[in-house]
Amino acid sequence: MKILVINGPNLNLLGVREPSVYGSRTLDDINKSINAFAKTLSAECDFFQSNSEGEIVSKIHTVLSDYDGCVINAGAYTHYSYAIRDAIAAVEKPVIEVHMSNVHSREEFRHKSVISAVCKGVIAGFGENSYILAVKALCDLK
Ligand code: DQA
Repeated sequence: MKILVINGPNLNLLGVREPSVYGSRTLDDINKSINAFAKTLSAECDFFQSNSEGEIVSKIHTVLSDYDGCVINAGAYTHYSYAIRDAIAAVEKPVIEVHMSNVHSREEFRHKSVISAVCKGVIAGFGENSYILAVKALCDLK
């Protein structure tokens, strides 16, 4: 099982960005934990972060040929990027939408996701465990 974990805008600032919402661990710390967990399930993870929509779209395209599934925290793009939505729909592999925070308990604009409908499932509100749960869910699909 080969999984691509994508993080979108501002998630490179985890650890310093709004720690009361996103915690004090860096993206690198979190990716190491995801990697260690994936290994226990004999899965392999690659990690990608970008602040730019086009780069995320192009990376999602690689899921088509190079991965069995994808975990994506699209950050604020979740709420309005039809380009990311269409890229997910195009690859026809299981993609799981994750959020560290419970977006439904936050500002109104975070309640809407334009990508959920084309994702296999959505996990939100469990901090870095949201990613771990998503990896587990992908492995269980196999
Ligand atoms: C987020 C929630 C989004 O609304 C926000 O724009 C983010 C992070 C989360 O992980 O909780 O950047 O996706």
